[in-house]
Amino acid sequence: MNPLLPKPATIVDIIRETGDVKTFRVVLDDPEEMAAWTHKPGQTAMLSVFGVGEAMFCLASSPTCRDWLEFSIRRAGKVTSALHELEPEAKIGVRGPYGNHFPYENMQGKNLLVIGGGIGLAPLRPLVNFMLAPENRQHYGNIEVIYGARSYGDLCYKEEVFRVWPQAPGVSVFTTIDAPEEGWSGHVGFVPAYVEELKPSPENKFVVICGPPVMIRFTLKALGELGFEEKQIYTTLEMRMKCGIGKCGRCNVGARFVCRDGPVFNLAELKELPPEY
Ligand SMILES: Cc1cc2nc3c(=O)[nH]c(=O)nc-3n(C[C@H](O)[C@H](O)[C@H](O)COP(=O)(O)OP(=O)(O)OC[C@H]3O[C@@H](n4cnc5c(N)ncnc54)[C@H](O)[C@@H]3O)c2cc1C
Ligand code: FES
Repeated sequence: MNPLLPKPATIVDIIRETGDVKTFRVVLDDPEEMAAWTHKPGQTAMLSVFGVGEAMFCLASSPTCRDWLEFSIRRAGKVTSALHELEPEAKIGVRGPYGNHFPYENMQGKNLLVIGGGIGLAPLRPLVNFMLAPENRQHYGNIEVIYGARSYGDLCYKEEVFRVWPQAPGVSVFTTIDAPEEGWSGHVGFVPAYVEELKPSPENKFVVICGPPVMIRFTLKALGELGFEEKQIYTTLEMRMKCGIGKCGRCNVGARFVCRDGPVFNLAELKELPPEY
């Protein structure tokens, strides 16, 4: 079978997260394919809007959710705008899952620090929900989430961030917005400064981080000062992609193809890539 051929799928629900981000719940049309679908936290899939084109997105739902796949999509250009115009019951194409994943196997018995900015929480969310699933929770330690966005309206997954995760045993959630806002009594300030303030301990811990490059850059500096080592810290890269399966060379960084060898890398691996990264 042609690996580039999308599987027909239906959008069953659309959740508006922010002014320009929507989460799409998608079900593969073939019940057998849907039942057989498996992905790992951090993996991606290619979505196609027929007659418009296709684009790569991370799977935002946990592999433990068997009812649908979720993709949180920011309106950016041709394909993402076309997706934003769709209504529930619209048909799209899905191919994947692709890429590597956050090393949840090595994270057993460890604590997790999740640091996200804006829609950057999307690839990290499946890892948190995977670890919180009743069948997995016993294998993982405490989970701290530090999550920020420009404003309250720009925070995604509000139900999980403000209600579900904070109520889960062993989970602490720290949210922040960039500037004061009427009705917001929580923390105000940028994510890296909040990390410096909270001073999370590096002990027995993995970190997963995703967000705007400037947030990542300053947060990594703060983590370094707190004693975190490069191999404890994982992030996920967003190169431009075409085939998604390591064939076209569109997404290469040195000898690595981000679609196939990534998108998840730890900092030690990133340092070995050529300087464009
Ligand atoms: C591994 C991976 C995971 C991703 N996960 C998500 C996700 O979960 N949610 C989400 O909203 N987006 C995600 N993206 C980005 C998404 O693929 C792009 O926004 C999308 O391809 C834009 O397509 P478009 O046709 O709407 O925009 P285009 O019309 O192609 O371009 C519109 C604008 O976006 C820029 N652009 C296009 N693609 C990228 C890219 N990959 N990185 C940076 N800028 C780009 C273009 O330069 C242009 O300025 C991911 C990308 C990768 C590679
Ligand atoms: S997108 Fe074709 S090789 Fe990665």
